[in-house]
Amino acid sequence: MQASLLSFKDWSHERLSNLLSLALEIKQQPQKYNQVLAGKSIVGLFEKPSLRTRVSFDIGVNKLGGHFVYVDSRGEPLKKREDPVDVGANLSCWADGVVARVFEHQTLVELDKGADIPVINALCEMYHPCQALADYLGMLETYGSVKGKTMAYVGDGNNVTHSLLIVGLILGCHQVVVTPKGFEIDNSIAHLANALATKHGANLTITNNIEELTQADIIYTDTWISMGDDTPLAEIKQTFAPYQVNEALMEQANAKHVMHCQPAHRDLEITGSLMDSDASLLMLQSENRMHAQNAIMAALIGKVEI
Ligand code: CP
Ligand code: NVA
Repeated sequence: MQASLLSFKDWSHERLSNLLSLALEIKQQPQKYNQVLAGKSIVGLFEKPSLRTRVSFDIGVNKLGGHFVYVDSRGEPLKKREDPVDVGANLSCWADGVVARVFEHQTLVELDKGADIPVINALCEMYHPCQALADYLGMLETYGSVKGKTMAYVGDGNNVTHSLLIVGLILGCHQVVVTPKGFEIDNSIAHLANALATKHGANLTITNNIEELTQADIIYTDTWISMGDDTPLAEIKQTFAPYQVNEALMEQANAKHVMHCQPAHRDLEITGSLMDSDASLLMLQSENRMHAQNAIMAALIGKVEI
């Protein structure tokens, strides 16, 4: 039976902490892991554009001794040509794992149903688990711990917000989420986040009021318009302007660092000057995508014990 990663929501604190430790070890001692995918092939199915995810998976698989096959599905959604359950079954005939970036989470569920190899979520409209693991690896390296630190997400409540909350709360990281009215996180995730916060002893604040952000270690933001959303920027720019992550907000929250999953839009959701400042962890996040994903593949496909 395959062990897929569609989101981290069912993971225990112990298993997730071990995965994070494995990511750090792979980063520090890559030679120990350079054969864990030897002889294995990983297929990357992408319905949406990507720079970081596509390249970091391709190079990452190579660094683990495996082979990556990119399948460009940007012309049309997978399900338009054939049922994702059949795509999953076919890929299982040749490959050892599937990495998929899709419009609808349901496509991943169906791919996974048909596949008897692990399916890894490389972003859907609800989650971006690989991104979140990389980001907490960056927090761990920067602060020496994740538990007890505070991550504050400001901007559009989206897939990145959901995964940051899930992974962060399971790891015991306090969370603040500030979004404009009408752009809140999904209701089901808000409920889950409350339950995870209680279970793992982390504080959780979800608000529309930017004035409530008075303390954070890291402020995080993401694009105001996600892939697949055709809202014109002009329509929402005014609404989001007070939620821009800039030097004044960093000072208000006494925050030491800033994160953004990228692609970033300079002087919209984040000021260009802040992206280029010493507070920026953006390139550490990008670098860590590969190490985090390699830990996921080593554990799920390479059978490295966690
Ligand atoms: N952060 C991220 O997933 O970037 P890409 O969309 O370029 O893969
Ligand atoms: N929320 C963004 C993340 C991009 C990596 C999107 O889904 O487009």
